[in-house]
Amino acid sequence: MCGIMGYSGLRPPLPLLVSGLERLEYRGYDSSGVAFFDDFGALSVVRAVGKVGMLKDLVSDRVAQPGAAIGHIRWATHGGVTLENAHPHQSGPIVLVHNGIVENDQALRIHLRSCGIECLSETDSEVLSHLIRLEYEKDGVFPEAVRRALGHVEGSYALAILCQNDPADLVVVRNGPPLILGLGAGETFAASDIPAFLHFTRQVHPMDNGTIALIRHDEVRAGRLEQSLQDWTPPPSMTISWDPVFAEKGTYRHFMEKEIFEAPRAMMDTLSDRLSVSPVLPELDRLALGIPPVVAFVACGTSWHAGLFGRAFLEQAGIPAFVEIASEFRYRKLLLPKGSWVIGISQSGETADTIGAIEASRRAGFFTVGIANVPGSTLERECDLCLLTHAGPEIGVASTKAFQAQVSLLMMLSLALGEASPRPDLLDALLRAPHRLELFLESLSAESLDARVERLRQSRLVMFAGRGLDYPLALEGALKFKEITYRPADGYPGGELKHGPIALIEPGVTVVAPLVDRSLRAKEISNLREIRARGGYVLAIGPAIGKEGHEIWYDDRIGLPDDPPWSGVFQAAGVLQLLAYRVASALGNDVDQPRNLAKSVTVE
Ligand code: AGP
Repeated sequence: MCGIMGYSGLRPPLPLLVSGLERLEYRGYDSSGVAFFDDFGALSVVRAVGKVGMLKDLVSDRVAQPGAAIGHIRWATHGGVTLENAHPHQSGPIVLVHNGIVENDQALRIHLRSCGIECLSETDSEVLSHLIRLEYEKDGVFPEAVRRALGHVEGSYALAILCQNDPADLVVVRNGPPLILGLGAGETFAASDIPAFLHFTRQVHPMDNGTIALIRHDEVRAGRLEQSLQDWTPPPSMTISWDPVFAEKGTYRHFMEKEIFEAPRAMMDTLSDRLSVSPVLPELDRLALGIPPVVAFVACGTSWHAGLFGRAFLEQAGIPAFVEIASEFRYRKLLLPKGSWVIGISQSGETADTIGAIEASRRAGFFTVGIANVPGSTLERECDLCLLTHAGPEIGVASTKAFQAQVSLLMMLSLALGEASPRPDLLDALLRAPHRLELFLESLSAESLDARVERLRQSRLVMFAGRGLDYPLALEGALKFKEITYRPADGYPGGELKHGPIALIEPGVTVVAPLVDRSLRAKEISNLREIRARGGYVLAIGPAIGKEGHEIWYDDRIGLPDDPPWSGVFQAAGVLQLLAYRVASALGNDVDQPRNLAKSVTVE
């Protein structure tokens, strides 16, 4: 989705905005723009189609006076990728940037037309600038004009707004998409995500839904949208522990590559304050909760794949569990038994469908738990309980280290809820898993993957298949592959191949087969034999098995240590992530910002 940014302070704002937009670029990269007060005090707007680098060139010789300024990075929803549709949008003295969707924009356009105002762009966002301007012309009170105008708007919006006549004032609003304030020394930032200002302050205030704030460099006042300005008060702040270094690429070519290798650290940081002699989740202990009769995981994409692991782990602990696609679950009749838990899993903590599923679950009276990676995220604040992963900021659109951290936390959860039947063997495997992953990734030389990468790149079709714990690995491998190589790829339960997908098998087709789940390995091997018997090429990912020669059931094998499955799943996931990354890089794709995607899908 889009990324917005605002600044009010005593420093020249343009370099701060551009560097912040660069750190938000994973949220969308169709076009970008800034608005600022130039050295004559005139409110200036500069926009560019394409990446932030295009904008950076346009403003490199512009001078902005200290004060308020705003910026935007766009992921097109309403209207094509054009300069007219780029933000900021201006109407008279009002200039704004918007993330979200105005549901009633057509009706508002008709209203504006009746006021003699024709929109110049195809965007729903431009409508907001005109509405605020019309209200502003009534009394000249900038924040109050914003409040009144938004009373006519249906939909979701995170906004940063400037007014020509109030150059020190920045007004920001949050109603749906995230908006976090960064409270610095003599300056304040507002952004869609923390990395935009993490280099300048760790004091943050995540804005609640339905709130508005007036920001001057040395003063912030916030309130509910229904409250008038005099009732607004300084917002509380929290300190986040993220290290700004995490938001940098370092020596890596892409954030995705860096984050694949950060996975062991992400797992260790997620587990460290929770693991002791017995598996504990302090968050659960404090609530002294009973054991739920049923758990439903709700999530999207890679987080949904983590949920499939969660289900397997909870079932192993004797707790019935389901995994639901959030965008479906949120509109269904929720027929779970009384006392069930609904657990939303989300790296960003802002995915609209997952938030919607959690809100529906709360309305239905279920206890809700969030597993999120971003402190202060909506998911954390909407749930009855939140278990944070500590993977640090994940910039690459394709989720890697956050997924690994989610899976390790779900293992912890199953051990904590399964306390009645302790599993010291699983706890031991989990304790060792981060270090075993680190050793394995270090041992996996780039050269050792070269031939496999070329094989996958040349394959007419790549499929992924597995059973048990290897099934969510197959799904995750397929999603990683398709979302950054742009090539079709699907993951299948190995037992399903003969019910249809095996018709796709012929020479030139490669099947990638993770093999870490020992319980079903014999059946997985017979599936692979069926594939090879029809000319398919099998690339196995797993430990050496028995004495078979590879001429029996695989053509090639990327070796894993013969570790317990609770360690092996992380190693196999790391290989699948690296394979996708290497093929996409070989194809010259923009790995960190793959086409059509965004890091956090904050609209339905
Ligand atoms: C994963 O690589 C994708 N970028 C995508 O499927 C992602 O997992 C999904 O959009 C959910 O995001 P979330 O974890 O932030 O909710």
